[in-house]
Amino acid sequence: MALWGDTKLFLCILVITFGCTVILAEIPKDCCLKVANVTIERGRIGDYRRQVAGAGCRISAAVLVTRHQRTLCVPDNEPWVQELMKHVDQLKAWCKKRKNTGKRCSGVNRQ
Ligand SMILES: *[C@@H]1O[C@H](CO)[C@@H](O)[C@H](O)[C@H]1NC(C)=O
Repeated sequence: MALWGDTKLFLCILVITFGCTVILAEIPKDCCLKVANVTIERGRIGDYRRQVAGAGCRISAAVLVTRHQRTLCVPDNEPWVQELMKHVDQLKAWCKKRKNTGKRCSGVNRQ
């Protein structure tokens, strides 16, 4: 019957929606809880990501990832951090284009 079909569809949507909420809620396990304005040599950074306040995390931050996979929480609005992120973007693009596995690109996220 059409009515039962609708009910099943509704249940499906409910499960999908709820399932997604649970999955999304579980992702930000390693949120930066605070940031430190500690400058780091740009040569040591191989990747970064942005953390946005409200998307499961309490504060906004730039998360720097060193070539040895250690993370560092820094303020994303500091000029030196923005310069660093620009630099890392260029480095990543450079390494990706050349499929470079040499020293200069070791620990760099080539995606
Ligand atoms: C953060 O560090 C940079 C570089 O040392 C400095 O220029 C800037 O004033 C600092 N910002 C704050 C809010 O302390």
